[in-house]
Amino acid sequence: MNLEPRLRGLLTVILLISCSFAAIAQSQVPNQVKYLEQGWSESQRQKFYTLSQGSQLMPLSWFTALEKSDSEDLFTVDSLSRFGYLPNPTGPDGLPVGFATDQSGGKWIGLTCAACHTSQVEKNGVILQIDGGPTNADLFSFLIELDKAIRSTVQDQAKFSRFATRVGAGTGRNGICGISLPGFPLTSRPSYRPVPRIPFGVPEEPMRSG
Ligand code: HEC
Repeated sequence: MNLEPRLRGLLTVILLISCSFAAIAQSQVPNQVKYLEQGWSESQRQKFYTLSQGSQLMPLSWFTALEKSDSEDLFTVDSLSRFGYLPNPTGPDGLPVGFATDQSGGKWIGLTCAACHTSQVEKNGVILQIDGGPTNADLFSFLIELDKAIRSTVQDQAKFSRFATRVGAGTGRNGICGISLPGFPLTSRPSYRPVPRIPFGVPEEPMRSG
């Protein structure tokens, strides 16, 4: 073809863009997930993934209302898969594996063993999920980004207003959920009281033996 160099450049760019769209479309095809046989039932697996162990990272309503520090996208937009956390399609609140809600003194989000001890290996388009395996998720990036998201929400009035609207609170900076925001950290919440200990790990269904 005898194309003008400029036109040829433009065509190359269009071609490259459409190729990268094709690559994105392909990478979004969900792979099949299989589970390594661990001698437990689906409901026991769900308990491992979602049962609270008492961890209270932050109020769930805050966690789901928070935006990323550098955009208006919700922090939980991709169910935290950008940090390597695994989706739990049948779990509550669209949270990934090992992110449990704790119901004592409000509704909190926290991590359980499963967040750091569930892994996946992939071969020939099949994903094998291993309950108890070491995670590939990046806890420190997660915490650093969460910290940035909270700081930018406190500092940016527009961000804060959107956050407060989603939480369903007034836009006043003090008193959201009864906690004074500029005076972070969360752990200094005045309502904190130790909760009674509930024995963990007592199986409601008999474990299979042998
Ligand atoms: C925040 C992430 C995180 C959470 C939550 C977590 N772990 Fe771990 N765990 C790790 C890491 C990282 C290691 C590896 C430490 C090392 O290699 O030095 C580990 C190691 C272990 C080991 C040793 C494994 C081995 O092969 O030696 C056991 C057992 C274990 N964890 C059990 C648990 C249990 C039970 C819970 C829940 C009560 C839990 N972990 C919660 C991150 C976590």
